[in-house]
Amino acid sequence: MGNKDFEKIVETSDEWIRSRTGIHARRIAEGDEFVYKMAAYAADRALDAAGLSADAIDLLVVGTISSHMSMPSSACFVQNEIGAKNAFAFDLNAACSGFLYSLDIADKYIQSDPNKKVLVVGAEALSGRLNWQDRNTCILFGDGAGAAVVGFSKDRRGYRGAKLSSDGSLSELLYMHAPESTNSELRVPGNCGAHIVMEGREVFKHAVRAMTGAVRYLFDEQQITMDDISLVIPHQANVRILKKLQEQLAIPDEKLFCNVSQYGNTSAASIPIALDEAYREGRIAAGDNVLFSSFGGGFTWGATLLTW
Ligand code: ACO
Repeated sequence: MGNKDFEKIVETSDEWIRSRTGIHARRIAEGDEFVYKMAAYAADRALDAAGLSADAIDLLVVGTISSHMSMPSSACFVQNEIGAKNAFAFDLNAACSGFLYSLDIADKYIQSDPNKKVLVVGAEALSGRLNWQDRNTCILFGDGAGAAVVGFSKDRRGYRGAKLSSDGSLSELLYMHAPESTNSELRVPGNCGAHIVMEGREVFKHAVRAMTGAVRYLFDEQQITMDDISLVIPHQANVRILKKLQEQLAIPDEKLFCNVSQYGNTSAASIPIALDEAYREGRIAAGDNVLFSSFGGGFTWGATLLTW
């Protein structure tokens, strides 16, 4: 869906959207393209890339906030769809940080048993969680999925560490209500529907500050600098947030991966989609240090370091 399509829905323009967000287009799921369908498609491709069959997977985590059902989880649907019959499966709700949080769980799980294999997916159908009359939010988001197979590595390659954080005290700046309760006594005052509500400017400031802080913390902990990093893959929220992050952390242009112009903000799916594209474009080679950062509703945020 291109920016011009929004001109027919809300008072906006292609020029406004491009200049404020850097987004040119986003993908919109249709028909029965639920989160789990996109997730299963990405999971199959990740398994192909890893040369593994689905029954080799022990744990399946799907980072998402836009499942078509509250129960069962999208992860259980994915398990069934791809035939990962030996896995236990669950969803993880950390909004745009869903993939980095899930990756950390995968790392800790594998540390407890190096024979385990984990499938980590980030997938969203946010087009079904938007107020299409709200120009502040509807132009920003898109649908998609990405996945990675995670296993033990004998050498110094693999998961190096992460600094992950949450702060529930600012939840009113970015939230989405659950569907209204069937128990009238449990009705949430001000429930305006199950769609994203956001204070854009405030979120912007917090996002830049939090991601910058997490990266600096991780650099100190790992005793590295930007010179040691080959590629930075931040959560693809919008170009202005990425530019600010780049400025604060002195990230050279050639080290910053950005594909938000084509997909918009796909929340938990944005980092694995970007990782997949970066890898397929030949921008990541064995031994490269790849840095990730994310920020989303909660607030949740973090920075993660991998050696490819
Ligand atoms: N088209 C035209 N005008 C718009 C639109 C639109 N789509 N959206 C808002 N406006 C108007 C506003 O109504 C406002 O008008 P007013 O001055 O008459 O009140 C004016 O534009 C300026 O609005 P601001 O909100 O101040 O615009 P800003 O420059 O801050 O840009 C934006 C808005 C793009 C949302 C910005 O705040 C932002 O990028 N925030 C980060 C939010 C984000 O990416 N969230 C994603 C989830 S969290 C995450 O992934 C990191």
